[in-house]
Formats: sequence, structure tokens, C-alpha cells
Amino acid sequence: MGLKLGIFGTGYAGLVTSVCLAQLGHTVTAIDKDPDIVASLSDGRPTIHEPGLPELLTNNLQTGRLRFTTQAEDAMAAAEIVFLCVGTPPRADGRADLAQVEEVARTIAPLLDGYKLIVEKSTVPARTADWIDWTIRRLAGREHPFDVASNPEFLREGSAVRDFLQPDRIVIGADSSRARSLLLDLYEPSFECPIVVTSVTTAELIKQTANAFLATRISFINMISDLCEKLGVDVTTVASSVGLDSRIGGHFLSAGLGFGGSCLPKDLSSLIKVAEDNGVDVSMLRDVEHINTARVDRLLAKVERALWVLRDKVIGILGVAFKPDTDDIRGAPSLGVVPRLHGAGSILRIYDPAAGPNLQRLYPPDDRLTYANSALEAARDAHALLILTDWNEFRSLDLGQLRSLMRTPIIVDGRNLFEPAQVQAAGFEYYSLGRGEATLRVEPKRVYV
Ligand SMILES: NC(=O)c1ccc[n+]([C@@H]2O[C@H](COP(=O)([O-])OP(=O)(O)OC[C@H]3O[C@@H](n4cnc5c(N)ncnc54)[C@H](O)[C@@H]3O)[C@@H](O)[C@H]2O)c1
Repeated sequence: MGLKLGIFGTGYAGLVTSVCLAQLGHTVTAIDKDPDIVASLSDGRPTIHEPGLPELLTNNLQTGRLRFTTQAEDAMAAAEIVFLCVGTPPRADGRADLAQVEEVARTIAPLLDGYKLIVEKSTVPARTADWIDWTIRRLAGREHPFDVASNPEFLREGSAVRDFLQPDRIVIGADSSRARSLLLDLYEPSFECPIVVTSVTTAELIKQTANAFLATRISFINMISDLCEKLGVDVTTVASSVGLDSRIGGHFLSAGLGFGGSCLPKDLSSLIKVAEDNGVDVSMLRDVEHINTARVDRLLAKVERALWVLRDKVIGILGVAFKPDTDDIRGAPSLGVVPRLHGAGSILRIYDPAAGPNLQRLYPPDDRLTYANSALEAARDAHALLILTDWNEFRSLDLGQLRSLMRTPIIVDGRNLFEPAQVQAAGFEYYSLGRGEATLRVEPKRVYV
């Protein structure tokens, strides 16, 4: 039989969690303090772009297993388990901003009416559960039994529904047997993957460690990519060959513009702060950050190398989401590239299959920045085309047609989408990252080496 669940926060993580847990047969009341989000979701209109989500949303609203509200009381009254899926954005000093988490703890405290299991799904620094526990105890008024557990979420935007329903593992951090068995009741009947049961603090650290490690792999291959460029070697060959080693594996070894999004950068900087606050030397992780932030400079240097003067050059930009299959632009490299080219006087034509409206809120159209409805429209009369996100639809562009539309056939590819020989054969000057100076126009002899 399904459990009754309350979920605070219906952003990228909370909405996917809500629809997927309802899909598994649980009764979910999802709370968001943003009334526009609640109204839209209650009408079956998804507020984020995520493959598979619209169908699950409609289906579970119809069955009555899923509803959305702005009223915390509605959810708390019925819920056996309450999930925290609110945001934990970075503060200016790199630490996680836990204001949303604290606000939910303060909201929950006076609403306790019998045992509740309160579960962190938001990614938080180690020992945050202690603070939640302390806050609720202080504000609850009367003595009510409750536990705080950790059940970190590992979904990836763009494949979040699949990741939630077919996870590699589930991590349950619980310090009481009651909390442990409730979370096992929730997951064990529906999932065959390994379920790691551990302490709350361990679970909190597992999530931040996983993201810091993924970020490290990306910066590692980007560091090697810079060396490849100097040596005339193709980093994609190096990475795929290295990844064939079963001790290493091929994931998160794509050289390019680096990592972005709302998770990897902030979870890395948060872990660095936790470690430094505890007197542990994590200078290696500082280098991971440093390599990543330098990627945008590296790409822009290539744009200048390709175009020389940037003022009045028409540049088509393909992709502004931080990764394909999402409309999320938080922490995206495009947020570094767009304002700098705009500030340099370039004329930008931007296209993204899903994230255009989100960028438009930050950078409204003007006489030097417009939004196109297709990749071809962005490329028309452009002096160069800049690829910032590896959407599949860009891979299948007709290069001949693209070339015929552009004023000068130049592609600067921040995601290494194409084979240099293939693009050059179609008549383009092609600049990518880590594919050897061999791909650059300034050393034409080496193109054919
Ligand atoms: N985005 C991801 O792919 C992902 C994956 C794994 C883990 N996480 C973690 O999940 C957490 C949420 O991330 P997100 O990307 O979904 O954030 P988000 O900003 O998209 O969503 C947060 C939501 O919480 C709502 N909210 C804030 N305070 C509230 C309150 N007091 N009561 C009710 N609702 C409230 C906001 O209105 C917003 O809709 C973060 O800690 C993040 O690190 C995210």
C-alpha cells in the first residue's frame, strides 16, 4: 500500500520526485510557496522542460494521487514522510545558502501532530540534519516525536524521470530504526538497485562527494584537453581510449566548456567550504574549480582568433542551457559568453530548443541581441556560429545548408560535436577544444597531418 508523502519545493528536483513517487503508487501532496508554479502544475502544465515529465504529471493528477498546494498545513496533516526539496543555492562565499531549508524547518515545527519523518532530499552540507533537528525542537512548542533523515537525489536534468525510476543506487541516511524502516518501506518494493543504508551525516557527504568527483573528472579531461591542443593530439581519442579501462569508465570525460548547472559548481564549492572549515586541505578541488571557470575564457579566445575584431560581427549562438534536454540555464557557460560578446559589440542571434525564454528573462532582446526560432535562423548571415550546448539536434544539422546561409563559414564548437575533418570537408573553418592546433586555420599545413 502506498504511503502518504509531503514534498516541499517543486523545482527541478522536487517536481520530478513528486510525480515519480506518485507514479509508484504513493499519495503525494507537493507544496511550493510560489502560487504561479502551483497553479500551473495543478492545471497539468509543467513548469520545467524534462523529457517524460508531462505524461507522468497528467497521469498522476488524474488518478488523484498527486496534488499541489501553497499550504503547508494541507500536506503536514496527512503526511507520514515529509521531503525537503527546496533550493540550496550558493552564497557569495561559496557555502550553501540554507535559508530555504531553515524556512521549511520553521514551517514544519508548529505543524507537527504525531510522528513525522523529515527527509532531506535537497543537497546539503554534512551535519545540516542536526541543524534541522535543532530548529524543529526549538520551535515545535510541545514534544512531538520526529526524525530527520537524508535521502540524497542523484537525478540528472535531461534524464531525470528515468534516473529517478531506474537509479544506480538509493542512499538512505537514517539514525533511528523507525526512520530507516519507513524509508525502506518506501523504496524496497519498487526498486531492485542497491540500497545503501547509512548514517545521516554519511548520506549527506555521499552526495557532495559524488558531485565533486564528477566535477573533478570534467576538469581533469579539460586540463588534458589543453595539453592535447598544444601537442596536436585529439582529446576525444585520448578520453575514449582512457575510458575503455574498466577502472576508469567513459562517463564525464567529455572535454569542452566545462561543467555548469545548479548542482556541480555549488556542491563543489560547498564541499570545499565544509572541508576548509574542518581544517582539511582540499586545494585539489580548488584547482578543479579554477580549471572550470577558465573554460569560457578559452572559448572566447578562440572566437577572437577566428573573427579578430568582435564589434559588429554577427554571431549565431546554438544552445544556452547548461546541458541538453533541459531549459535550465543556472550556472551555464552561456551566462559567461553572452554578456561578454554583447559587451564587445557583437550582434548575437541566439537559439536553444528549450532554454531561450529563460535566457530572455536575463537578457531581453535589443538591437544587438535577438532570439531565433531555429538553428538555421540563428546561422543566417552570421560571421560565425558558436556551439555552447550539445543538443542532439545540432549534431544532425545539414552542414551544406548551414554553410550556404552563413556570411563566413566559421564554427567555434565548445562541445566538440563534430569531427574536424567532416566539418572542414563541408567548407568550414572549425575551432573546437582540445583537438590539436591541427584544426586551426593559422597552421594550415597541419590540418592534413
Ligand atoms: N536540479 C537537479 O537536477 C537536482 C538534482 C539532485 C539534487 N538537487 C538538489 O535539490 C534541491 C532543489 O534543487 P532544484 O534544482 O529543484 O531547485 P529549484 O530552485 O528549481 O526549486 C526549489 C523550489 O522550492 C520552492 N521553495 C522555496 N522555499 C520554499 C518553502 N519554504 N516552501 C515551499 N516551497 C519552497 C521554490 O519556490 C522552488 O520552486 C537543491 O538542493 C539541489 O542541489 C537538484
